[in-house]
Amino acid sequence: MTVVPSILLNNGVEIPQLGFGTYQIRPAETKEATLTALRVGYRHIDTAEMYGNEKQVGEAVRASGLPRDEIFVTSKLNNGFHAYDDALKAFDRTMEDFGFDVLDLFLIHWPMPAVGDFVETWRAMEEIHRSGRARAIGVSNFQIHHLRRLLEETETVPAVNQIEVHPYLTQDEVRDFDVEQGIVTQAWSPLARGKVLHDPVIQRIAAGHRKTPAQVTLRWQLQRGDVVFPKSITPERVRENFDLFDFVLSGPEMAEISALDRDERVGPHPDEFNRIL
Ligand SMILES: NC(=O)c1ccc[n+]([C@@H]2O[C@H](COP(=O)([O-])OP(=O)(O)OC[C@H]3O[C@@H](n4cnc5c(N)ncnc54)[C@H](OP(=O)(O)O)[C@@H]3O)[C@@H](O)[C@H]2O)c1
Repeated sequence: MTVVPSILLNNGVEIPQLGFGTYQIRPAETKEATLTALRVGYRHIDTAEMYGNEKQVGEAVRASGLPRDEIFVTSKLNNGFHAYDDALKAFDRTMEDFGFDVLDLFLIHWPMPAVGDFVETWRAMEEIHRSGRARAIGVSNFQIHHLRRLLEETETVPAVNQIEVHPYLTQDEVRDFDVEQGIVTQAWSPLARGKVLHDPVIQRIAAGHRKTPAQVTLRWQLQRGDVVFPKSITPERVRENFDLFDFVLSGPEMAEISALDRDERVGPHPDEFNRIL
């Protein structure tokens, strides 16, 4: 059985470096898709209140028959609940939906700078962490200037920063800052939702290793040290995206893929995104 490497978070909690993403998986399909991933060997599931499928992820975890503590589950606070008390209540609802006593990682989904003060939100996250019901807390879509405020004004350094990262958006500055502060970077949309798979450089490198463009892209992310969780509703691809541990990209291949950066996002810019979904 494939052993996925784990990364140690700054509070001593271990996270599997490869997981399964569930954004845009409809609630009715989530239990089966998540069970497929768990059968393939994934032990890390990424979801969010915003995705509307926490309940079905919880059902899949129970239906898998695996001990709860062998599966790392992440969820995220939705954008409309940034006020302190709202955040605490939203976490209660999330836990009720999952049917879990303890969540492995809880994140602020977006900084939402025009909507509220994310520092106040972070204080609620610290309270949730102190309660023992979230083993680790972190942020998502935080730019360096957002992170600096948390570091200067609060007690707890986020365990992770989950940001958009793929070969067309390598995010070197934020990733370097994360490393300096002991924050693990999680790369969302690691395949740029399929866009990078048509890239001729990635296709050539993939052919040389007899792997697929998706496998080469995900391998590049793992070798850079990021945590990744590709999403797929297609069982074949779920298996393909887990089969990453029988080849290694060379230094020049890593550099060639990194050089594809063109600062191109598939999602919104965190400084501009203030929509409550
Ligand atoms: N924190 C945030 O703000 C945020 C934002 C976005 C995403 N995320 C997280 O990151 C996860 C991954 O990102 P994402 O879902 O946006 O995009 P992604 O994983 O980069 O790409 C998913 C798309 O690629 C296709 N795909 C997957 N594996 C493939 C393969 N081997 N070959 C060809 N196509 C393949 C999928 O199609 P099929 O499903 O049809 O197979 C789907 O259309 C999300 O599910 C979510 O958990 C977080």
